[in-house]
Amino acid sequence: MQQLKDYLSENKNRFVEELISLLKIPSISADPAFTQDVLNTADAVHKALLDAGCDMVEIHTTEGYPIVYGEKIIDPNLPTVLVYGHYDVQPPDPLDLWDSPPFEPVIKKTSMHPEGAIYARGACDDKGQMYMHVKALEYMVQKNQLPCNVKFMIEGEEEVGSESLATYVKEHREKLANDIILISDTGMIANDTPSITTGLRGLSYVEVCVTGPNRDLHSGLYGGAVANPINVLTKMIASLHDENNHITIPGFYDKVEELSTAERAEMAKAPFSLEAYQNALDIEAVYGEKGYTTNERNSIRPTLDVNGIWGGYTGEGAKTVIASKAFAKISMRLVPNQDWQEITQLFKTHFEAIAPKGVTVEVTPHHGGQGYVTPIDHIGYQAASKAYETTFGKTPIPQRSGGSIPIVSLFEKELSSKTILMGFGLDSDAIHSPNEHFGVWNYLKGIETIPYFYKYFTEIHS
Ligand code: BES
Ligand code: MN
Ligand code: MN
Repeated sequence: MQQLKDYLSENKNRFVEELISLLKIPSISADPAFTQDVLNTADAVHKALLDAGCDMVEIHTTEGYPIVYGEKIIDPNLPTVLVYGHYDVQPPDPLDLWDSPPFEPVIKKTSMHPEGAIYARGACDDKGQMYMHVKALEYMVQKNQLPCNVKFMIEGEEEVGSESLATYVKEHREKLANDIILISDTGMIANDTPSITTGLRGLSYVEVCVTGPNRDLHSGLYGGAVANPINVLTKMIASLHDENNHITIPGFYDKVEELSTAERAEMAKAPFSLEAYQNALDIEAVYGEKGYTTNERNSIRPTLDVNGIWGGYTGEGAKTVIASKAFAKISMRLVPNQDWQEITQLFKTHFEAIAPKGVTVEVTPHHGGQGYVTPIDHIGYQAASKAYETTFGKTPIPQRSGGSIPIVSLFEKELSSKTILMGFGLDSDAIHSPNEHFGVWNYLKGIETIPYFYKYFTEIHS
């Protein structure tokens, strides 16, 4: 497809410019102050899909943010690819750690991205990766290379739990019928080491509150005589891991899928430098569950992490006080076969059980979702693998990711189709962190690789 290379080089500046304008809209789904911006982003995606050549695009309103649905059906007898992505982004804070404002995209060269990277919140997660699919469609339509049917479903609530999308999918099974789901919302090992994500972890996210005395107290007059909720909470949290960094919640590991020695040996073949990993994070040592490697700890093993903890006095200077309440937000990353609702319940039962007398504990579940695995003998995986071989000149390595896209397991359940995760971001792209970016090379490589997926998938399918 020399045509594709030509189309890319003729249009790459415009492709980058278009992405930059999308990145300028602060579509922060978590913060109600940005409601209008999130809605405007849905409109921009609507327009982009029409411009790229969809025959029909609609904005489906929900109780939350809209879902943009688009399609181009060329022949009902041909296979159908359903593309999923999200146009919402994470909050950019802490703002003072950004080198340039998060919604004023700039292109800068880095050691990972010598050809330049676009710096903006959402550049990689997921506006940039979602938009690769829009531009790949544009190419296929313009050059008469679309070999099958395509449907797009782009949501605005992924970063806050995809609640409206779950309802939408259940209510539109027929409309969303497809032969394979294609998502670019993950990463790959390195630009010279392509990989395909074959697994996502599940998630259970909870908030806990420990209440002691009915009001904040003078820490001199009452200190030592009543349970201090912050002391208690931190002790309870510390007890959730043992000396080997195993999680102590009874039943937590009961359903964990254990990988065979052969599978673990296969995983260990992926190139990985512990030294480079530590250097990139400025840490002297890694830390985690005994008996597992770093790559195992962050992909095939479940975890429990505090995401935030607060209570008492945190302002300037000192205030002598025993707070009435202490809070924490806790996430558990789960692996295949662990049921997130069951894990949430196990957590709640255990956390309530370990609370000492003198405090009350409240556990409030947030969102969650199941883990997911794509088998590498699936035709969708094979098509993706051939696509990477074509454009990278190397066979991609299958790799389980530690991240979560909880809606993927719901797709499998409700739509009975498998998902292929063709991610083009790098771990160092700082998604969810200050200075998020996405390599221009990666963006264009994605646009180049996606049309081959359509081609090979259609060939293998028929
Ligand atoms: N795109 C990410 C997930 C991801 C990133 C998976 C990189 C694999 C590799 C997604 O937008 C995300 O951030 N998911 C959340 C979960 C969601 C329920 C808020 C996560 O993993 O924390
Ligand atoms: Mn994402
Ligand atoms: Mn994200």
